[in-house]
Amino acid sequence: MGRRIVLLGPPGAGKGTQARRLARRLDVPHIATGDLLRAAVREQTELGRRAQAHMDRGELVPHDLVVAIIRAQLEKVDGKRGFVLDGFPRNKRQAHALGEITDIDGAILIDIPREEVIRRLSARRICANCGRTYNLISDPPQSDEICDACGSRLKQRSDDKPQVVAKRYDLQYNVEVKPLVDSYRERGLLVVVDGDGDIETVTRRILDALGEGGRTA
Ligand code: AP5
Repeated sequence: MGRRIVLLGPPGAGKGTQARRLARRLDVPHIATGDLLRAAVREQTELGRRAQAHMDRGELVPHDLVVAIIRAQLEKVDGKRGFVLDGFPRNKRQAHALGEITDIDGAILIDIPREEVIRRLSARRICANCGRTYNLISDPPQSDEICDACGSRLKQRSDDKPQVVAKRYDLQYNVEVKPLVDSYRERGLLVVVDGDGDIETVTRRILDALGEGGRTA
């Protein structure tokens, strides 16, 4: 059985960035509800059409939709191999639903100050074709606004507009995620990692917290 880890944190904390690196190092699948939902929006599936308005407003997508996505993904990748879940669960109701599908070994909260959230998200760009994420300050593409992986044009995420970021932070993170953080802490599952620092430094902190510090990058 591989490690079963949940990554928590405010928008822009680096959950996606760190989840990809962690999954590679632990050799487990990375499952990100935000990525899955954005892919559905790009492909204009029924799920994508139902999710889009909620995402554009910075609100949670309805419970049943995200639980169905997670259940399907965990079946597809065989959850027994372990996983890094990024962006799910996002409240206690979702955590309860996850608990009916699988146990987890731990939850990592990547903690960064609100000002850093605003700074990072205003510089984030995403590939309109393959969904790869960049940052014009900390992780820029080789050529201006073009994806290194597929050559498509980069764009700003529609929910990275300042007023939507504020809503994601104040309503999603403060109201929905924080009580979940408290619940994982009470259950002895939570580790808090300082997310302020360069990407490699934060990865090291996470690996150390998981007792995987000996692994090479
Ligand atoms: P989602 O895509 O999960 O958005 P989020 O949780 O707000 O997180 P972000 O993707 O904004 O940030 P991140 O923490 O992954 O940071 P990243 O690594 O990109 O969800 C989007 C929407 O989908 C939600 O608002 C909701 O509507 C819906 N949704 C998703 N899950 C749901 C659920 N469970 N239930 C209901 N609805 C759901 O990094 C940010 C930027 O900073 C990047 O540019 C990156 O390059 C840069 N960066 C990363 N680390 C560092 C560092 N250490 N130093 C400097 N720059 C860094």
